[in-house]
Amino acid sequence: MTSTTQTTSKVMDSIEAHFDDSVARLQAILRVPSISTDPAHVDDVRAAAEWFGREFEHLGFSCEVVDTPGHPMVFAERKAPSDDAPTVLYYGHYDVQPADPLDQWNSPPFDPVIVDDANGGRIVARGAVDDKGQVMTFIEAFRAWIDATGDIPVGVKVMLEGEEESGSESLEGFLDAFKDRLAADVCVVSDTGMWNAETPAITTMLRGMVYLEAEVRGPGHDLHSGMYGGAIANPANVLSRIIGSLHRDDGSVAVPHFYDGVADPPQRILDQWRDLGFDEASFLSSAEISTATGGETGRTILERTWSRPTIDVNGIHGGYTGAGAKTIIPATCSAKISCRLVPGQDPERIEASLKAFIEAAIPEGCSVKFVSHGANPAVVVPADSPWLAAATAGLAEAYDTPAAIIGSGGSIPAVGDIQSKLGIDALLVGFGLDDDRVHSPNEKFDLRCLRGGIRSHAGMIGAFADRPRH
Ligand code: BES
Ligand code: MN
Ligand code: MN
Repeated sequence: MTSTTQTTSKVMDSIEAHFDDSVARLQAILRVPSISTDPAHVDDVRAAAEWFGREFEHLGFSCEVVDTPGHPMVFAERKAPSDDAPTVLYYGHYDVQPADPLDQWNSPPFDPVIVDDANGGRIVARGAVDDKGQVMTFIEAFRAWIDATGDIPVGVKVMLEGEEESGSESLEGFLDAFKDRLAADVCVVSDTGMWNAETPAITTMLRGMVYLEAEVRGPGHDLHSGMYGGAIANPANVLSRIIGSLHRDDGSVAVPHFYDGVADPPQRILDQWRDLGFDEASFLSSAEISTATGGETGRTILERTWSRPTIDVNGIHGGYTGAGAKTIIPATCSAKISCRLVPGQDPERIEASLKAFIEAAIPEGCSVKFVSHGANPAVVVPADSPWLAAATAGLAEAYDTPAAIIGSGGSIPAVGDIQSKLGIDALLVGFGLDDDRVHSPNEKFDLRCLRGGIRSHAGMIGAFADRPRH
């Protein structure tokens, strides 16, 4: 019988021997523009789901591309080799954010290119790291286990979502319908970041989100601003004033009840964050700005991004935005507003408070219409579970530096639903870097992260197999 160490090294050898093929497969799926928020891409989103379905079939999984009221869900399954092997549910998303602004890309967003650099090269395309490249880290690890040993030593289930970037509207219905088939011992998610390129990370906190679009309407049509300006309320002025009143001078949010239920993390967590040795200079350089003046004064960047709630305007639209000057009072103006939530905040109540705050500031004659783009709570996963210990051991097969336990400012709506609806704890192990330009032009995934991610998943599979169920 071969030892665990020998087996793992055979799997790692297979990863190295076939790494070029792994890169080529990632390039193939990056060519599919699966932008979930844009109805023009509905067929592309389905094509991406079917691409993944075929990959799982090649790997000997049983696989279904399941229709939902929105975009399809990919569900794949491979039975555990023995009754006492655990079953791991993997979650990721195959949809991507829109690629705009297109003119800021150095190469077409859906024509992935490998750019040589001092870090061993990177793959540039929309979805490179968020989340197609990260989904491929576990798929390639499955492939390597099968290639090197003929099997995967744990039961594997995979759920790939096509609506993560657009509010996960169909997810709850799918979880209800597939509850029994999704049963697993732990859920592994690769859609977060590393601490830095040498240090893998397990994320134990995600912020939640409330996303609201507010459209202010005034006059029935655009008006000459000389004839009417000064007499008729201007929706752009009204909305700007409201946006300006969302925050106090100290950066805190002025919406009543916004901080209800919000507490500071315990001192031991704050101490642990301090000991991580946050590299502020590299954080600022990844944002191409010289200082971080957003949010509440008197709090560190990690506190402000990991444990404090925010309100941000994502876009404002209204009136004349073309070249040159045009003098009008616009008929409408709208803003896309998102709140990042932390534990203790109830998404429904935050949404209601924000609506009430905006409505109270609409003058007579004007009106406001809201469109809601989703509401989900913050997520905390246990930092002391045996699965987390196994993941840490698995990561040590791929990285010399031990995994950091971190928070994250981002949101993954599915994680909360998987916890509450399926009763399965999540393990958030991601391989992105701060400078990956997630959601931005020239999004990239370092090849060293792709490789480290595949090796990490291979190591984690071995470590999970060593911890039998119950
Ligand atoms: N992968 C991200 C979330 C993320 C980003 C986690 C960075 C950790 C670090 C995910 O795809 C995402 O962008 N989520 C959206 C959720 C929203 C559309 C409901 C987000 O956070 O804005
Ligand atoms: Mn993502
Ligand atoms: Mn994203």
